Amino acid sequence: MSAGAVGRAHPRLEGREKVTGTARYAVEYPLDDVTYGWAVPAAAVRGRITRIDAEPALALPGVLAVLHHGNAPRLSPDVDPELYLLQEPTVHYRGQFVAVVVAESIEAAREGARHVRIDYDTQPHSTVLTADHPGLYRPDKVNPSYPTDTAEGDFDAAFAAAEVQVDATYRTPAYHNNPMEPHATTAQWRDGQLLLHDSNQGSTAVQAAMAELFGMPRESVRVISAHVGGGFGSKGYAKASVVLAALAARHVDRPVRLALTRQQLFGPIGYRTPTIQRVRLGSDADGRIAAICHDAISQTSMITEFAEQTAVYTRSMYAGPHRRTTHRLARLDVPTPFWMRAPGECPGAYALESAMDELAVACGIDPVELRIRNDPAVDPDQGHPFSSRNLVACLTEGARRFGWADRNPRPCARREGRWMIGTGVAGSSYPARARAAAATATALPDGGFVVRINATDIGTGARTALWQVAADALDVPPERVRIHIGDSDLPPAGVAGGSMGTSSWSWAVVRACQELRDRLGHHTGELPADGLTVEAHTADEIRAQRPMARYAYGAQFAEVRVDADTGEVRVSRLLGVFAVGQVVNPTTARSQLIGGMTMGLSMALHEEGVLDERYGDWVNHDLATYHITACADVERIEAYWVPEEDPDLNPAGVKGLGEIGIVGTAAAIASAVRHATGVRVRDLPIRLDKLL
Ligand code: MOS
Repeated sequence: MSAGAVGRAHPRLEGREKVTGTARYAVEYPLDDVTYGWAVPAAAVRGRITRIDAEPALALPGVLAVLHHGNAPRLSPDVDPELYLLQEPTVHYRGQFVAVVVAESIEAAREGARHVRIDYDTQPHSTVLTADHPGLYRPDKVNPSYPTDTAEGDFDAAFAAAEVQVDATYRTPAYHNNPMEPHATTAQWRDGQLLLHDSNQGSTAVQAAMAELFGMPRESVRVISAHVGGGFGSKGYAKASVVLAALAARHVDRPVRLALTRQQLFGPIGYRTPTIQRVRLGSDADGRIAAICHDAISQTSMITEFAEQTAVYTRSMYAGPHRRTTHRLARLDVPTPFWMRAPGECPGAYALESAMDELAVACGIDPVELRIRNDPAVDPDQGHPFSSRNLVACLTEGARRFGWADRNPRPCARREGRWMIGTGVAGSSYPARARAAAATATALPDGGFVVRINATDIGTGARTALWQVAADALDVPPERVRIHIGDSDLPPAGVAGGSMGTSSWSWAVVRACQELRDRLGHHTGELPADGLTVEAHTADEIRAQRPMARYAYGAQFAEVRVDADTGEVRVSRLLGVFAVGQVVNPTTARSQLIGGMTMGLSMALHEEGVLDERYGDWVNHDLATYHITACADVERIEAYWVPEEDPDLNPAGVKGLGEIGIVGTAAAIASAVRHATGVRVRDLPIRLDKLL
């Protein structure tokens, strides 16, 4: 039945357009009469705007308007406080957008923004997360809707009685999403209809948010997101750029292009919250865990509550009868944190997987073996069976490929000249979920097929993967299939996020294609000129899934070398083996996995939002001062996957792999650094000054 497109390497369908520069991004559509918007950030941390003087800006040539809370079109206050922009004089954090300048050229708009005079009445602020912050509180739930705290058995008693104990606190700083394309929008109003070309991870949700904000029916808003230059979570929902562009376009009654600057991405679009995480593990002398506890502290803003699910990873990863997890939040005068690749799991795994390494050292057991010994038979959190759990296969296959067997566990044992060499390992896991979606499939009289779904390709290769899935479901050569995505006029679907894109969208695509084949089987005579179309919805089927623990797994191995004199750390090898269900396209799958691992390397060694409490903001807010891993930092990086068939997932059998690559990487590197030097760094990034 299968045409065999799934599982075969294929370059991205839009690859040629992308590399030749003809693929259009949100502010690249040719347009008559277009104007340019420039967002103006607040220069106060906490307070109120007492006066805005737009005159100096308006006096500049080409400047058309200055929008602010005093003159901007009104929005509905009930949608999302984050999006309630230019409506009130209140300032909740430094950098909050408080005005927009609209001009005939981008240069005039930028110059205008420099000339808007704003006076503030300021109040004292608090922007730094500490473990003893007086405002720490217990949120009602953590993202997306997990219980805040969990407890089974008697952790305190079991930990106190354990032969071997690890009690360690790990810290991660703020991390900033930096997609290559910034948050950017072209907005046009025509006869009460709003047309948006917007850079986001899912335009169905953006369409809904914008319709509600402006008090319009959804059909009056169309959002096109044909090509998107990355997001890493930060474009998972409508953001300031789309709201400001729409407000500005309505105000000047002309199309407006508005792109945030690189500097403006550091805060207002969200970021990964800093965390303070205490992990306690108690085991017997053989490393069998009896007691496991993960207490996580993170931050949210004064605007809305964002409760990162930092300790949720620990609930299901390793066995142990006595367990507890908690989350506490501090409300600070900061921008609201948001999703960044594997929110929760990524920082949570850094802490737990590091603690596992500490336990391995304390017990004198190999860290691969320790993880195998604590592999649970059922989900220790919910008690459900796993739909498939191949962590052990990833660990053993990874150990074999990496050459782990020869490892001398003693720290500081390997040296080549100035370089001290060490290796480390960590487990990875990420939920394999799916969201409801709709899709249509059309058979054309010429023998071609068209599949439509409002999926979003943020650079991952989603468009190509869905095309492969559709061809197999239709049982035709892929050349006969065309796929349309990236437009809210298409059947609605969820965001490219939570590693749920391919699983959710392929589900609807497969069902539409199957139904179409069925109908064609009963069809006699010619097809009508516009073809035969069927539509599928997956909401009921997804709701009816039996409860199981569904996760992707992985094992990450790192080799590092540390300069004995300077403390310089280099990652000479990263190797990951993953269990991610069916791999649709090996080319783009590998790219996702090594991309995630690279971002994990970046987290381990480079990235750090440095906050100055006096100034109330991050002082490093560009790519010159906020360091990210560059090509020269990645020496040898390999990603593999084990064969995995899981019938309890979704029709395409996919688990999603956009996020698992970053989960555990930093722990593997930190453990390798400890193996090389004997120094355990528990607050990322691992800078050379922490090793000397
Ligand atoms: Mo991902 S952070 O769920 O877009």
